[in-house]
Amino acid sequence: MRLAVIGCGVVGLVTGASFAKMGHQIISVDKDLTKVRKLQKAHLDFFEPGLQELIQENASQGRLRFTTSISQAVKDAEVIFITVGTPPNNDGSANLSSVHEVATEVAASLEGYAVVVEKSTVPVGTGQWLKDLIQDKARSGVEFDVASVPEFLREGAAIQDFLQPTRVVIGVESPRAEKVLRQLFEPLDAPILVADIKSAELIKHAANCFLAMKISYVNALSIICEQVGADVTQVAKGIGLDPRIGQEFLAAGVGYGGSCFPKDISAFVKIAEDVGYDFQLLKEVARINREQRLRLMNKLSDALGSLKGRVIGVLGLSFKPNTDDMREAPSVDIVEWLLQEGASVRAYDPVALPRAKTVFGESVQYSADAYDAAKAADAVVLLTEWKAFKNLDMKRLKACMKGRVVVDGRNIYDPGQMRALGFQYYGIGR
Ligand SMILES: NC(=O)c1ccc[n+]([C@@H]2O[C@H](COP(=O)([O-])OP(=O)(O)OC[C@H]3O[C@@H](n4cnc5c(N)ncnc54)[C@H](O)[C@@H]3O)[C@@H](O)[C@H]2O)c1
Repeated sequence: MRLAVIGCGVVGLVTGASFAKMGHQIISVDKDLTKVRKLQKAHLDFFEPGLQELIQENASQGRLRFTTSISQAVKDAEVIFITVGTPPNNDGSANLSSVHEVATEVAASLEGYAVVVEKSTVPVGTGQWLKDLIQDKARSGVEFDVASVPEFLREGAAIQDFLQPTRVVIGVESPRAEKVLRQLFEPLDAPILVADIKSAELIKHAANCFLAMKISYVNALSIICEQVGADVTQVAKGIGLDPRIGQEFLAAGVGYGGSCFPKDISAFVKIAEDVGYDFQLLKEVARINREQRLRLMNKLSDALGSLKGRVIGVLGLSFKPNTDDMREAPSVDIVEWLLQEGASVRAYDPVALPRAKTVFGESVQYSADAYDAAKAADAVVLLTEWKAFKNLDMKRLKACMKGRVVVDGRNIYDPGQMRALGFQYYGIGR
């Protein structure tokens, strides 16, 4: 099939490159000319495992092209995916200005029947709004359908998640659109749930907020565990073995970040507010998450007293492993707080250092590896559970440090072993 994908962030690029791999013809669009020029040379300006190679392979075989022109992409497309960003407005609602901009241009460029798919995370009701907008701007007589196919990929495992999804949700209001989208998604061999558009839109927000809720639940448990002397990792394991609960997203730590959970929670709270429901449960999820960052800072202050003039080694800056994405990452708040308190920060991350330089500039010393970050440090703070950090030579790390304090914001080390090695170890909830 001929597909247009508009917006070349992680979602758009993974969508385009994966469909190209499945044999479709893709034209991907972004308004950022510099980005498009780089993509035309198969150069990616962020880190996502395997994505650059997938783009390279499919572009060289002529199935994946990049342009800044929406009309060029839309002209012959049978399906048009909108994958632009939907960042938060000041009141927490999703900012749909990019979706509006794209839809207006798509409408003006439509020539024959196409399915316009919202893949960006949008508030319930956007499908109808999109339909009215396109109807209003398109040439008379042009046929189209609007659909919602929310994206559930995880950064760091995005291609795998796209090609082997747990489910595909297809929100449609016509059998014609359903037929086209089934044809496209059936080869993925995943359960397909066909729903009405509003339900499909709600599924995305409901799913992300539920996952964030699990994280905040275990983080709340971690507070109780600390008070009573229990170990939250054991409690989480004990409850997670129940298949009704499940093990995933039950790791206590410094909390979630990233470009999805924080904004999707505030958007869902706003959606609820707009229909007269005060979604206090989700407000609490967000509050608990914010407090986890404060709790980690308090642990460090309790261990060191004043931070003025102290050297702190920070391990991990991306909001989670296998990505260089630092949007809403706990590291951003924590490093800024350390600097404000007068500490000097030595930081290391396996892939996010270039991104970190655009966030912290010269205020941080960027290290060559974890041992370098620990050099002469009064304390080491671990913020991202990169696999490489699990396998560090702890004796060597200790020898690099000046102090003995380790604050493990992701509970990746064994407290007993760390104490036996002579560290003053602080985990979360254990
Ligand atoms: N990042 C994730 O893990 C993830 C997962 C699932 C869903 N989502 C959702 O998917 C959407 C996209 O996320 P992302 O992280 O890929 O976004 P992003 O912000 O990284 O990228 C969006 C891209 O769209 C481009 N763009 C903006 N306006 C445009 C326009 N008018 N014309 C053409 N291009 C335009 C931008 O230049 C940018 O390259 C969001 O709604 C997000 O919530 C993201």
